[in-house]
Amino acid sequence: MKASSSRFTPRRWIFSTFLSAVALWALKNRSSSYILCSQTKNIYTVDEFNPKVECISVKGSRIVDVGDYADIEQQSDSFNFISKFVPSWMIANALTRPKVFEVSPGAVVVPGLADAHAHVIENGYMMQLPLMGFRSVQDVVDRIKAFIVSHPDVENDKSRWIEGMGWDQTKWPGAGFPSAADFDSDPLLKGRLISLSRVDGHARWVSFAVLDLMKDLPEKVDGGLVVRDKEGKPTGIFVDNAMGLIPTPPWGEAQISDFFDLTIKQALSYGLTSIHDAHTKLEHVKFFQKMADAGKLPSRLYLMGNVASEEYWGHQIPRLINYGKHKRLNLRSVKLFADGALGSWGAALLEPYSDKPETSGLMLSSPETLKRLVNQFWKDGWQTNVHCIGDRANHVILDIYEDILEQRGGNVSEWRPRIEHAQIFAPKDLERIGKLGGIIASVQPTHATSDMWYAEIRLAPTSRSKVSTLSWVSTPQPLASPSDGDLAPRFRRVFADQRLSREQALKGMTLDAAYASFAEHDIGSLTPGKNADFVVFDRNIMTVPFEEILNTRVQATVVDGQVVYGAL
Ligand SMILES: *[C@@H]1O[C@H](CO)[C@@H](O)[C@H](O)[C@H]1NC(C)=O
Repeated sequence: MKASSSRFTPRRWIFSTFLSAVALWALKNRSSSYILCSQTKNIYTVDEFNPKVECISVKGSRIVDVGDYADIEQQSDSFNFISKFVPSWMIANALTRPKVFEVSPGAVVVPGLADAHAHVIENGYMMQLPLMGFRSVQDVVDRIKAFIVSHPDVENDKSRWIEGMGWDQTKWPGAGFPSAADFDSDPLLKGRLISLSRVDGHARWVSFAVLDLMKDLPEKVDGGLVVRDKEGKPTGIFVDNAMGLIPTPPWGEAQISDFFDLTIKQALSYGLTSIHDAHTKLEHVKFFQKMADAGKLPSRLYLMGNVASEEYWGHQIPRLINYGKHKRLNLRSVKLFADGALGSWGAALLEPYSDKPETSGLMLSSPETLKRLVNQFWKDGWQTNVHCIGDRANHVILDIYEDILEQRGGNVSEWRPRIEHAQIFAPKDLERIGKLGGIIASVQPTHATSDMWYAEIRLAPTSRSKVSTLSWVSTPQPLASPSDGDLAPRFRRVFADQRLSREQALKGMTLDAAYASFAEHDIGSLTPGKNADFVVFDRNIMTVPFEEILNTRVQATVVDGQVVYGAL
């Protein structure tokens, strides 16, 4: 008894406490530090000075080193630091060494992907009743019926709204808009409040019950259209600004939160670590701020604030730079709309539509209003991101940008003005945007793959000579296939000469998107000092046959060094 108690002398006690503290420190350090390696050097950094490496070394939320394993190991001084003070026999060597993860030989590591144009809350909303890929009105009606039958609370309550998104009439026989009558032809749907968004969000299809709620519809809507039949009666289709007439109930916070969760889970499973929210309403800004405060943003969010007003509203939205517990929320840009979309004949064209010669599309704001707003936002230091699809919209916005850059002393690299979609350009304007330099054409892969089915019908037969369409090799969910199995062959045929290389596509979804959100010093490439945001794919998307890209699976998504999806 005596002997054993004498072991705990103050000196020994201090010494053992010191040892435990060191061990704990080492453990903690080890848990937040690791080296990720690919024996086949399939780590694509998107850093031109070091494009393919064997390993990256992560400490906390940052990348501290990239290169060969041998070099990285030697330089991990924080790990050697401990062995200077404590002989290695005291603490197992393994304890002081960082963990090493090795990806499988076929797998690749790339920087975390960015979706530079998404609608976070609306995407979640769409996921509750998705209508993508249906090939007829009847298929959509059947899907709504199935939804009602599987939701007894909806079935038993005719005052409940049924909302969905994703229909695309161009995929149906005849390719004409549907109408309210299509719902009432089914007894289960008759009399229900139904409002379904088109796949691009630029048109809505509602039931008679909804039309009944809207007394005295205006004949004309600026920047919008109430589609009417021969007798002048509304058919149930509302395009662009006219959608604002539909009295859908606002979402409560619980719903917004559900939509947010759905989108973020999906995004992380696709390898998206950064999302640009392309139209953030004030109430959603507040919601995102709350999530950021609580440390509940698993991915980075770059918001484009929007207030639906033609009066200047820059003072109504907060400016947020690296906001929140994890510094992942930013709001320094605004979203404006020049025109509608191609699928609903809303894109503003310089010439009439080939398949609807009575219209050449819709400007949602007049060129004068756009000019006034863009100038004021630029003066107040906001990045301006303007939705432009048609060649007329792109022409108008280029005039405005050119005036600021050439006449008013605008600094393009400080301002970084964006054109969202930048889809159809007159050849002269394509030249002009090139000459001006620095204007960001924010082109979406999804539009190439969704619009390719009818772009040539809307714009033909002069499309080849008159119009230049930018397209991308990637697909909506950055790599996964959309429902159309024959995508690849068709895509190869359509605008094959305008395709980007895989390297260009990868840079577009990483470093270029980072630049477009003022974040190129922190993310977008696997470079020492940047945040450790990366994705592990199960196959080499840079070299596998084209068709195989679409079968790629995400093995792990990592944000700030932490695995947020899958496993390393
Ligand atoms: C534009 O802004 C950038 C970044 O602040 C600066 O480096 C550059 O010198 C500016 N260019 C001009 C012409 O003022």
